[in-house]
Amino acid sequence: MATLSLNKISKSFGTAKVLQDIDLAIKDREFVVFVGPSGCGKSTLLRIIAGLESATAGRIVIDGQDVSDLPPVERGISMVFQSYALYPHLTVFENIAFPLRVAKLAEAEVKAKVAKAAEILQLTDKLALKPGQLSGGQRQRVAIGRSIVRNPKVFLFDEPLSNLDAALRGDMRVELSQLHRDLSATMIYVTHDQIEAMTMAHRIVVLNKGQIEQFGSPMELYHHPATKFVATFIGQPNMNLLPAKVLAAGAEGLTVEFNGGLRLTLPVDCTTATIGDTVDVGLRPENAPLGEGISMKVRVLERLGGVAITYAITPDGQRFCAALPGDAAVAEGQTINIAINPADCHVFDKSGNVMRRRMAPAIAA
Ligand SMILES: Nc1ncnc2c1ncn2[C@@H]1O[C@H](COP(=O)(O)OP(=O)(O)OP(=O)(O)O)[C@@H](O)[C@H]1O
Ligand SMILES: [Mg+2]
Repeated sequence: MATLSLNKISKSFGTAKVLQDIDLAIKDREFVVFVGPSGCGKSTLLRIIAGLESATAGRIVIDGQDVSDLPPVERGISMVFQSYALYPHLTVFENIAFPLRVAKLAEAEVKAKVAKAAEILQLTDKLALKPGQLSGGQRQRVAIGRSIVRNPKVFLFDEPLSNLDAALRGDMRVELSQLHRDLSATMIYVTHDQIEAMTMAHRIVVLNKGQIEQFGSPMELYHHPATKFVATFIGQPNMNLLPAKVLAAGAEGLTVEFNGGLRLTLPVDCTTATIGDTVDVGLRPENAPLGEGISMKVRVLERLGGVAITYAITPDGQRFCAALPGDAAVAEGQTINIAINPADCHVFDKSGNVMRRRMAPAIAA
């Protein structure tokens, strides 16, 4: 279908800089998710790609053609919004057919295209109904159907599932991933839900304050977050951060002391740290077993069955979450010790950038 590249896209509303120098190259048939906190510029970027908003600077290229100055209808793009405005007085068939009617296609062609979209979206037996007779998920599928019939080069979705309840969101996630495979289309999907991002994306763009923090596959972002922001945004429950003082920086890595006295040497390249600095040591809840290490008091325990999500607090007031085995022998109010494996630690310098982790030395053949 189509590649899409953004070259130095910037956007200001008056004096407010909303997007800054966004460079992005999206591959043909890729499913890319834009994720980030509210107000970071996700929708604005999507609307600029669609042509509904003009960029202050920068160019947009779709399939090798610079579309920056083209109106939305000539960009070969289709967009589905959070609030899917269906026409309540029209049937599902006519709602899906709407853009084809506007384009004045022949009746036979309209019927064929609507039938195909309805089949993909499992709406064939609903075509005669009105939107009011459908569930929320079915209505959202009608809105998607309306974008499919236009046969766009690129599909854009702006939080299409956020009005649905949790169970339906889960179902629709699976359906959208399937739809992506069926259509083999290039898709960009905006959400602030990191679970949606992790489960659906080939690659995720993490946006923060109008800038790209990191662009990579879900597992790249999970295992190798480039910044503290990405580290704490991706992964559920969130990564823990513990401050530690740098005692030494050498060939083996960075030797730090945590509040409470625990000393560890962490296998990272410590070019950006000097002795006496405070760094943030990140540890995922799933890498925090019971054992000799840091002492903390359990505040709240959530036994989910397979895991026991343990919310604790250290004597110096740092919150810490550990995902312990479901039947772990811990109780609320108890003091526990959490072991820290240096190889699981992510270390962030004062400016929030990760200190690159040392790879295990390669074994000579
Ligand atoms: N038309 C506009 N005029 C002025 N400021 C705007 C306009 N549209 C968006 N903004 C500002 O641009 C910033 C980014 O908005 P945007 O809608 O892109 O955020 P978002 O990442 O989609 O957030 P959300 O997750 O809440 O939908 C916000 O600070 C917003 O107030
Ligand atoms: Mg938005």
